[in-house]
Amino acid sequence: MSDKKQLRIGLVGGGFMGRTHSNAYNRISNFFPALQYQPVLKAACSRNQAKAKAFAEQWGYESFETDWRNLIKRDDIDAVDICTPNDTHAEIAIAAAEAGKMILCEKPLARSLAESQTMVDAVEKAGVANTVWYNYRRIPAVTLAKQIIASGKLGKIYHYRANFLQDWTINANLPQGGEGLWRMDADVAGSGVTGDLLAHCIDTAMWLNGAIKDVSAVTETFVKERMHQLTGKVQKVGIDDACIFHCHFENGSLGLFESTRYARGHKALYTFEINGANGSLRWDLHDLNRLEFFDNSDASIVKGCRSIHVTDGDQPYMDKWWVPGLGIGYEHSFIHQAADFLKSLETGGPCSPSFKDALQTQKVCEAVIDSANSRSWKDTGVDYSLE
Ligand SMILES: NC(=O)c1ccc[n+]([C@@H]2O[C@H](COP(=O)([O-])OP(=O)(O)OC[C@H]3O[C@@H](n4cnc5c(N)ncnc54)[C@H](O)[C@@H]3O)[C@@H](O)[C@H]2O)c1
Repeated sequence: MSDKKQLRIGLVGGGFMGRTHSNAYNRISNFFPALQYQPVLKAACSRNQAKAKAFAEQWGYESFETDWRNLIKRDDIDAVDICTPNDTHAEIAIAAAEAGKMILCEKPLARSLAESQTMVDAVEKAGVANTVWYNYRRIPAVTLAKQIIASGKLGKIYHYRANFLQDWTINANLPQGGEGLWRMDADVAGSGVTGDLLAHCIDTAMWLNGAIKDVSAVTETFVKERMHQLTGKVQKVGIDDACIFHCHFENGSLGLFESTRYARGHKALYTFEINGANGSLRWDLHDLNRLEFFDNSDASIVKGCRSIHVTDGDQPYMDKWWVPGLGIGYEHSFIHQAADFLKSLETGGPCSPSFKDALQTQKVCEAVIDSANSRSWKDTGVDYSLE
């Protein structure tokens, strides 16, 4: 019998993220044995009874619910994990906070800045632990980038650029809305690539390089009308299919960001690069264990970009896994974030990004959309302290 404290999880939404999070909870105790807390999979919630039951059985939940309101009412749930589409985040999170539950919420925090603010107000009023799953921070090579930047090795930063490219909506006959296609419906998603993909790039960028001060953006909706899967009617498409913005960071550097779902051949190409006076770093999701590092202080005869295989036990999180030289994958970023959340319960500190941190990303997303709509520069109003 384990003498660990239990964190009893109630997870809402049995799709892509429901699976990554469930996998994370199932593996934590094996790979992070020193944690005082242990996740216990109490209940999974999906609206369809058969799906809820099957999901609970597949991932090892003790029970299932078909209405998240019932999940939140339960005394045997400590933390609610929100893995549902963006239009549900605020309602579930606010109700969970009012019931005194801890909350782990998927990104983006919500559809809009105003909606996100209500969530921040709710968790702050209730004083409940909270975090948002901007999981790319927990990829060891990205965490190592953070450490190198924080050490000052890059010197004064001049440039930050990021891309997040996909190609899955090029087909003009693809419907919008409903199961599997809610990202195409602005009422559910809030925005298109800005909230879905650029939100990740913005979160990573501000974590690594500080606040984004102002933005100038252009967006495009290439296919103007699509049939709605739920109504069968052809309706206007309200999301941005592509977005490009540039910006000033608070530290004086310039940023350049691009995201689209119309870059044929790209499925999930997330890359970022940061250039300082003394060095540069580059990372690519397709080769996620590697970090490219150019160090201008190297002797000229060996000067060049080194490709660091981030798999050594001295490197972030890697002492928890195999032996040096053996890589890990996408799913590990969620395991790391869940483990960091459990650790934060031990230490009593926040688990970044908190709802308040994610609100800053939302401010940038909102400024990006406003800028594109008004064809003008917009201040973001970001209030960001680096951790
Ligand atoms: N961190 C990341 O890298 C990442 C990646 C993908 C998605 N996300 C975010 O995760 C969230 C979910 O995305 P996904 O890709 O898992 O979507 P998905 O469509 O695969 O799964 C969503 C699930 O929620 C269920 N659902 C919808 N409304 C519900 C309700 N009221 N009660 C219970 N279940 C409900 C759907 O039936 C579906 O099973 C979104 O906010 C998305 O932006 C984050």
